[in-house]
Amino acid sequence: MKILITGLNGIIGWNIFKTASKLLPQTAGTYREAHPGLANLNVTRLDAESAEALKALLHAAQPEIIIHSWAMCDLDLCEQIPAMAEKVNEEGTRLLLEAARGLASLKRFVYISTDHVFDGETGDYTEEDVPRPKHVYGRTKYEAEKQVQASGLPWQILRPGLVIGDSLQGRKGPRDFLLTRIRAGKPTHYFTDEWRSPIPAPEMAERVTAIACSNESGIFHVAGREVFSRYELAQKIARDHGYTTEHVFPRLRSEDRWASIRPKNLSLKSLRNI
Ligand SMILES: NC(=O)c1ccc[n+]([C@@H]2O[C@H](COP(=O)([O-])OP(=O)(O)OC[C@H]3O[C@@H](n4cnc5c(N)ncnc54)[C@H](OP(=O)(O)O)[C@@H]3O)[C@@H](O)[C@H]2O)c1
Repeated sequence: MKILITGLNGIIGWNIFKTASKLLPQTAGTYREAHPGLANLNVTRLDAESAEALKALLHAAQPEIIIHSWAMCDLDLCEQIPAMAEKVNEEGTRLLLEAARGLASLKRFVYISTDHVFDGETGDYTEEDVPRPKHVYGRTKYEAEKQVQASGLPWQILRPGLVIGDSLQGRKGPRDFLLTRIRAGKPTHYFTDEWRSPIPAPEMAERVTAIACSNESGIFHVAGREVFSRYELAQKIARDHGYTTEHVFPRLRSEDRWASIRPKNLSLKSLRNI
């Protein structure tokens, strides 16, 4: 099975690539910013805006499965520059789908979406709940979901919960952020009234690979079974890495003026047995 994964510099893309390439040696990936950790791997540099390069790469690689994980994910940056979020998340996905349509080899297009397509008012969202994004990032990801569904290609949409684990650079994602601050002796505040369904990166990668290689189609929530507040999760990350919780402090959403665009409860459930 030949898999092509986009966005290897992200936590999601990198962990899926590590897992999939152990099982399927022909696994390939794309990245935008060079990193020494990508040397000697089956990877190609690609920007979301390069339609011609995209087509050329897909034509040469002839993947059977495309797992599409690049995205502009910074919530605040997406609010500040919505046109850029639309370009990377919506237009970038459209170009990839267009290039994929010409591939005789393709069996499945797998879109990595997000829990942020929901507004967070109720939590416990299943695959049957209708998304209602609260911010630009969620809206652009939901628009990309709709493009995937209308593409005419066999598709899967996977929505991971908050992913906790290794990044290629050691400075991405919630775990790296907190551990860097703890090691520097800096205090960090986390909301006690904001909830997520975190999932360890290796488990996420195994489940994504299994779903992508299955013949199932449709939407899948890929999340941990336990719901944590951001504060509880930060305490757990500190303890799991041998630190005390002395640098982790509780905060309420009402105490932070940036909290209003952030969905409150993005806990996920899955009705799918895979
Ligand atoms: N992390 C989570 O907890 C989580 C949870 C649910 C869903 N997701 C979804 O998972 C995917 C990856 O998220 P992440 O957290 O791993 O994100 P991330 O660490 O911010 O990485 C995003 C990736 O997208 C690439 N990218 C950004 N702009 C690009 C462009 N113009 N052209 C090509 N590549 C571009 C980046 O490449 P460079 O670094 O090389 O520029 C990077 O590889 C996203 O689709 C996100 O919606 C993430």
